[in-house]
Amino acid sequence: MQTISVERVAVLKPKPQDENELGFGRIFTDHMFLMDYDAGVGWHDARIVPFAPIPLSPAAMCLHYGQEIFEGMKAYRAPDGGIRLFRPELNMERLNLSGNRLCIPPVDEAFAVEAVRQLVRMDADWVPRAEGASLYIRPFIFAADEQLGVHPAKHLIFSIILSPVGAYFPGGLDPVKIYVEQEYVRAVRGGMGYTKTAGNYAASLKAQEKANAAGYSQVLWLDGIEHKYIEEVGAMNVFFVLGDTVVTPALQGSILGGITRRSCLELLQSWGVRAEERPLALAELMEGARGGRLKEAFGSGTAAVISPIGALRCGEEEAVINGSTIGSLTRRLYDALTGIQWGRAPDPFGWSVAI
Ligand code: PLP
Ligand code: COI
Repeated sequence: MQTISVERVAVLKPKPQDENELGFGRIFTDHMFLMDYDAGVGWHDARIVPFAPIPLSPAAMCLHYGQEIFEGMKAYRAPDGGIRLFRPELNMERLNLSGNRLCIPPVDEAFAVEAVRQLVRMDADWVPRAEGASLYIRPFIFAADEQLGVHPAKHLIFSIILSPVGAYFPGGLDPVKIYVEQEYVRAVRGGMGYTKTAGNYAASLKAQEKANAAGYSQVLWLDGIEHKYIEEVGAMNVFFVLGDTVVTPALQGSILGGITRRSCLELLQSWGVRAEERPLALAELMEGARGGRLKEAFGSGTAAVISPIGALRCGEEEAVINGSTIGSLTRRLYDALTGIQWGRAPDPFGWSVAI
């Protein structure tokens, strides 16, 4: 395994005064990880350096054609003061899955996890202690060739930055209101929907603005072909409790295979709760809401954790779910997942790893 060279900052930045007011992704720690790729050489020069702007040509290909991928994971402060990661190997596996779609050369997954560990260890004092707060970890890779031709990059940069964060949604565990988008689409099968790449999020902004203007915090995407099936929310996968069954859209190439989604499905299975991954039509969902079959709804994601959904707006109709309060299964999943992530509960699956 390559070694990682270290250059420490001369003067540490002041830490946030109030860990209950961190917001999301606004504050960055003292150090970052960098590594270069050059065709014919491979990934090289792994280093931890002071957090600072990265010099980039105005002709850098990522700025023009969006050849970029990223990940999102967290470090959690356990009750014993130790720091834990949650299934980090799955993030690096997905980084390479995204990279494959965007012609970005793979990184050594075990090495990338080790880079996260070393960086988090260096900035360990930045891992918050406040309830619900954590250190968000953002690995990303972008094309840095100075070149305006459209082709896969020969020079790329892999970076990891860290940001102490609170709840992704300002209301914390308060149910969010979701707007079903029927005009714009985020991704289609065959496209890049299953990857974490910048363009997917750029494609979401217009509808996000529309939803916000109507008083809703997030967009629920429908499939890009028939505009009929539920896909996912801006930064979360979605689950619905219909009767006694939990339903989540199947992974068919246009939505992200969330690590939180997978963990929820595994938890539900271990509890003997019936869960289905299948195409879920908007019509079935709205009918379920009208007829009382739709008991609970929630989103799942690293940033969003488990977020109860209190209302779904679809055209002129608004379905209020579970009286806009958190449902019992949603609560149980939230408690189980966060218990494991923060090292507060037994971890029968071995998902939580000390750094
Ligand atoms: N869907 C999208 C579009 C996301 O950006 C995220 C966040 O990463 C998720 C789903 C949830 O994925 P995960 O649980 O791996 O964070
Ligand atoms: C995450 O949950 O890690 C995400 O990537 C969400 C992000 C778009 C803020």
